[in-house]
Amino acid sequence: MSHQILLPKENTSIPCTGAQTILECTLAAGIKHIHACGGFGKCSTCRIAVNEGLEYCSERNECEQEIATQLNFPQQVRLACQTKINGDVNIRRLISDQIDMKIVNQQFADESGTSLGSEKNVTIVFTDIENYTPFVEQFPPYDVVHVLNRYLMIMNQVVKEHQGFISDVAGDGILAVFGNDSETENSVMAAVMALNEMQQKLHEFNEYLKLNYQSSFKIRAGIHYGPVIMGPFDTGFMKKLAVIGDNVNMASRIESANKDFGTTTLLSMDAYTMVKDRYPDLKCHKTTLKGKTGEFDLFEMPLK
Ligand code: FES
Repeated sequence: MSHQILLPKENTSIPCTGAQTILECTLAAGIKHIHACGGFGKCSTCRIAVNEGLEYCSERNECEQEIATQLNFPQQVRLACQTKINGDVNIRRLISDQIDMKIVNQQFADESGTSLGSEKNVTIVFTDIENYTPFVEQFPPYDVVHVLNRYLMIMNQVVKEHQGFISDVAGDGILAVFGNDSETENSVMAAVMALNEMQQKLHEFNEYLKLNYQSSFKIRAGIHYGPVIMGPFDTGFMKKLAVIGDNVNMASRIESANKDFGTTTLLSMDAYTMVKDRYPDLKCHKTTLKGKTGEFDLFEMPLK
């Protein structure tokens, strides 16, 4: 019996019997479907996203499952050379040129388990230095860069010790993420502990600043919990594991709200819910946030 494979990108629909793989059908229809290993389930370049009809696709066989596990494929991403259908499906080819092929090769070399990108619930922390601008204005570029590097090195160490990672740095601002590992039970708690230690390290750092630059810093932070898109981003000269999405912006807005309340660390309601048992009486500040609609409850975390 023949079923239909709909390919919206190619603006076509092709027949496929239950005995053929999707790849066999697309190739028979003259579609240039990349299949670098010849259809042996080794390269993943035939990968497709099943937009509709996933229930009509055969179960992953052993060799497809091996690649799917290695590359962290979501359910709807399948190998066309291993998948057969018993109903109509709507698919999109995911590899279309040499640049895509290069990305596939990099994904095979990546051992982080996030090579395709995934959505994850994590804790996002934004920090900045309260009195950084006057420092920059006061000292020559060499000192500014040296001090910032020293600061980032110390804070990166603290974040790593609490199983977090720094996703981005912009000047004195740090975007850190907690909960991307299997060991952390409560990623908000891990973030709070890390911030506590960052504040303690800052006391030592300020001794150095006072001695050498007659200056001192204060850290402000915003903590939010929620889903983000996480994946390795590779520009060709720099590769990093990064997070993107509205919840990242939210953490940044929360950090900025510290200025309005004279606070150093604020948590969103979603983050506070995760640590409320441990900190039942945190002071609540009601506020609007730039670029967001409605009012938000932010909770003030007293750090040592
Ligand atoms: S063609 Fe290589 S895995 Fe399908």
